[in-house]
Amino acid sequence: MKIRTVGVMGSGLMGAGIAQVSAHAGYPTTVLEVSKELLDRGMKRIEGFLRGGVEKGKITPEDKDRTLSLLKGTTDMKDLSECDLVIEAITEKLQAKRELFARVDGICAGNAIFASNTSSLCITEIMSATSRPSRFLGLHFFNPVPLMKLVEVVRTIVTAEEAESAALEFVRAAGKTPIRTSDRTGFIVNRLLVPYLLDAVRALENGVGSIEDVDAGMRLGCGYPMGPFTLLDYVGLDTTYYIAGIMYDEFKEARFAAPPLLRRMVLAGMLGRKTGKGFYDYSVEPPAPQNHLTA
Ligand code: CAA
Repeated sequence: MKIRTVGVMGSGLMGAGIAQVSAHAGYPTTVLEVSKELLDRGMKRIEGFLRGGVEKGKITPEDKDRTLSLLKGTTDMKDLSECDLVIEAITEKLQAKRELFARVDGICAGNAIFASNTSSLCITEIMSATSRPSRFLGLHFFNPVPLMKLVEVVRTIVTAEEAESAALEFVRAAGKTPIRTSDRTGFIVNRLLVPYLLDAVRALENGVGSIEDVDAGMRLGCGYPMGPFTLLDYVGLDTTYYIAGIMYDEFKEARFAAPPLLRRMVLAGMLGRKTGKGFYDYSVEPPAPQNHLTA
């Protein structure tokens, strides 16, 4: 089972990044979107990142052009028919993912491997919408995809060993380090990361320290590249809240329960960088910590 061509469904933040690293590794990569506008936006994101890479001296202009030449955008699902590996990176909605996979299942060859980039949904539940249980797994990339070195390779209880091996080989060829995990909500990283982020919010609620001091604590005391509040704003408070909810439903453990402040910030539309305000206010430079949230 050798992967030669790749399809990526969705060209948002994660999909565009996955398509970029796939093409950069030399795989002809087809990107599927629902509209031309979204496709153009995704392709522009990729071009912009590659241009930045050239400016920073990380890649050559030839590298950039070769990567772009291996990328093909489409809004027609039939264009995925030749792909050996199809990676889904659409919105984190179970039903939408199941419906998309059910459709593409009828288009791709029976031995093609399907993968979901979900960070929190049950891979087995998505897989059950297809007719290829043994060729279905999770490939969980991290944001920002072109820079983060890790991919979680998630097997279900019915994933074939050869499908997992082919996926591991693809991840390594894409310049990432795979870690193997099983289909348990949150996999390895979010199992540890989500309670840590929620605990940071609880610490803030309990008056343990200010936003900037908690962030500095983890950055300077533990060498984390971002403190928990900067990371929450980066990932999106709604995303973290949503993942925590799914993990809480699965495990019924208090450590996965979203703290009241997080819920209220999501309800108030303070979602982090994407809305300009979260634990920091991004309308000013440098971003200002919002310590009045717990006042
Ligand atoms: N092309 C190529 N390289 C680039 C680039 C580009 N366009 N832009 C930046 N780089 C390189 C830089 O040159 C730099 O390289 P060196 O280390 O060799 O100098 C490196 O990438 C870092 O870039 P910057 O210096 O511009 O940025 P930074 O040092 O502030 O790092 C970061 C940014 C990588 C995002 C870092 O802050 C980080 O690792 N943060 C944590 C992110 C994280 O935890 N992500 C996971 C989120 S959780 C998730 O995704 C899972 C989920 O399910 C929710």
